[in-house]
Amino acid sequence: MNVTILGIESSCDDTSAAVIRNGVMLSNIIAGQKIHEEYGGVVPELASRAHQQNIIPVVDQAIKQAGIEKTELSAVAFTRGPGLLGSLLVGVSFAKGFTTALDIPMIEVNHLQAHVLAHFIKQKEYGNKQPEFPFLCLLVSGGNSQIILVRAYNAMEIVGQTIDDAAGEAFDKCSKVMGLPYPGGPFIDRLAQDGNPKAFRLSKPHISAYDYSFSGLKTSFLYLLRDGLKENPFFIEENKTDLSASLQFTIIEILMDKLRKASNDLKIKEIAIAGGVSANSGLRKAFEEHAERYGWKIHIPPFAFTTDNAAMVAMSGHFKYLDKEFCSMDVVPFSRIIV
Ligand code: KG4
Repeated sequence: MNVTILGIESSCDDTSAAVIRNGVMLSNIIAGQKIHEEYGGVVPELASRAHQQNIIPVVDQAIKQAGIEKTELSAVAFTRGPGLLGSLLVGVSFAKGFTTALDIPMIEVNHLQAHVLAHFIKQKEYGNKQPEFPFLCLLVSGGNSQIILVRAYNAMEIVGQTIDDAAGEAFDKCSKVMGLPYPGGPFIDRLAQDGNPKAFRLSKPHISAYDYSFSGLKTSFLYLLRDGLKENPFFIEENKTDLSASLQFTIIEILMDKLRKASNDLKIKEIAIAGGVSANSGLRKAFEEHAERYGWKIHIPPFAFTTDNAAMVAMSGHFKYLDKEFCSMDVVPFSRIIV
């Protein structure tokens, strides 16, 4: 019997719908929201309004592109949280209405776990190289920075996480003070490729275990710009590649130092990466260098699965469907949670 899952993702500023059949992705439609660019960050009220406009056309396109009829769906999986409450409500409400109309089960999905399970999506063109359990997953996005010990599809434990800002926030906030557009991560990535990563020394945190902190780095970057601008009003313009390279280098060092420590202590060499920041070219290179140097078996997702997407939600839904983990109509979204 086929297991065909429609996934719905609406936790932040991307409205996405995807169809996965027996673990193989048939479609993955993502509608981004350009409106936030002019505000330098996501405006929650505008995000939920845009989701409301996008959700039906996006689902319609996902089903058409998958080449199926909606009556062939086994269940609908949706992101319950964490995320922006107004945005989540759109996806949750849509799932309630759609599953009631089709008389099929509804499956709630944790957004962070979905990022991890994106590694199990089967795609014809990418083959089938999935991580083996147990593995460590570095989950780095605009809202989270965590090291997750993954024992099974349904057994994940956070072994380390940020105590303040996320890695993506560090990229975005520092790029904002440099006058770059939002989100700044991809711009820093591009500029860094022409810069000297050792041009400027930035502060690194000293905190225990496998936890992260990025607020000190952000402050030290701010002071660097402030002092530089006092001497030279064109400091940022003249140094933007070196500033970007130094910032990126320090963020990657912070991330990899703790991941290496966790890998050594837990004796796990199967290592994956997930979340928006995993698109960063420097971080991908650092992973490859670690694989060579420390014998890690690494898993880097295709770019389409680094940012928010419904394919990962449908994949999580697939596993929960096999376990018959359905939810009831009184389910409500949550804005904050840990895996
Ligand atoms: O997972 P994601 O799409 O969204 C949420 O956090 O919900 O991650 C977005 C984050 C942003 O902070 C963005 O700047 C960062 O991922 N990002 C990058 C790159 N591409 C996206 N950061 C560094 N380098 C990149 N190439």
